[in-house]
Amino acid sequence: MDKKTLLEMQNEYVLCTYNRDTMMVKGEGSYLWDIDGNRYLDFTMGIGVCNLGHCHPRVTKALQEQAAKLLHVSNLFYNENQPQLAAQIAKHSFGGKVFFANSGAEANEGIIKFARKWGNAHGGRNEIIAMDNSFHGRTLATLAATGRSKYRVGFQPDVQGFSFATFNDLDSVKKLIGPKTCAVMCEPVQGEGGVIPATKEFLTGLRALCDEAGILLLFDEVQCGMGRTGKPFAHQYYGIEPDAMSMAKALGNGVPLAAFEVQQKYADVLQPGMHASTFGGTPIACAAGLAVFDAFDQDGVLDNAVKMGAYLRDRLNALKQNYPVIKDVRGLGCMIGVDVGDQVKKVFAACRALNFLVLTAGETTIRLMPALTITKEIADEALVLFEKALKTL
Ligand SMILES: Cc1ncc(COP(=O)(O)O)c(C=O)c1O
Repeated sequence: MDKKTLLEMQNEYVLCTYNRDTMMVKGEGSYLWDIDGNRYLDFTMGIGVCNLGHCHPRVTKALQEQAAKLLHVSNLFYNENQPQLAAQIAKHSFGGKVFFANSGAEANEGIIKFARKWGNAHGGRNEIIAMDNSFHGRTLATLAATGRSKYRVGFQPDVQGFSFATFNDLDSVKKLIGPKTCAVMCEPVQGEGGVIPATKEFLTGLRALCDEAGILLLFDEVQCGMGRTGKPFAHQYYGIEPDAMSMAKALGNGVPLAAFEVQQKYADVLQPGMHASTFGGTPIACAAGLAVFDAFDQDGVLDNAVKMGAYLRDRLNALKQNYPVIKDVRGLGCMIGVDVGDQVKKVFAACRALNFLVLTAGETTIRLMPALTITKEIADEALVLFEKALKTL
């Protein structure tokens, strides 16, 4: 079908809740091609979804094989792939127990329900302290937990039971803990908020604070997890563990797949019938997840993410000397934020004009989320394009 007809159909039949760019038809590694045959260097990776790059051969093969065998079976039955993927998640994190879902918001709804269920049984506690500037999803409860309040406008009444502390300010959390508090929830690296890593003092302090107060610590690793920072999960840089965490985005490298994991000691909090998801952990989605962990274990993907992330950040910091528009370079591994102040829209547009796809985050930050598999040549290509974009300002 030609592009004009497709766009007419889009306008006629698809709700317009996104500002969309060109129509993409093909992806391979770090590159995308649109319907007009233009090639793009992609440093967005579907907003941190295709961490192994587009159409990674391991994922494609696993999907093809599984599609010919069994796509879906309900959670009234076991399937071969779920236990294997849960074991891989546990092995790469804190050895907990996993519930499978489909999206980041759904996984976060799960940890919120888990925390309330636990808290209600432990003294009727059901309030959660979340962080200013956070993002946890677009469902009603995850919106209520989202500190970036602009997303809630027009959708009141808010789901009750959330208050907001200041990210990286332990005292602000301390002040909010009360007799009804059951949990503290945060992203170890705030993504949508501007690529802001938690300080070591804050995250380890939160763990100690939650232990003292006898409440749960919940991490949202939807964006910063699954190798994005060079460790399977970002909190592993901090030497502490949460009581529960959510993951999604890159878990299936492009196939909708999410999960939340709780520590083994909480295995009995959610009992049969208390939580469910029709598509959660379907054989086809879990096949993709298993291929992702195979790539982590066998292809050196995480080491490459650490190495290439450090290289990109070093070179971006070097650019800072010549381009005062760069105020700050932040991030962990291949989750990189370049703060360009009020020039963010212009830098974004200049990159786009060069067919270099980047993201924004917060009000002032260009967010770079390359494939974790990038080579030095591709990193250099991106750096040349970024400098070219800065020159046009
Ligand atoms: C940290 C974080 N949590 C949750 C979500 C929501 O994920 P989804 O869009 O898959 O529901 C996002 C999406 O950007 C996110 O970055």
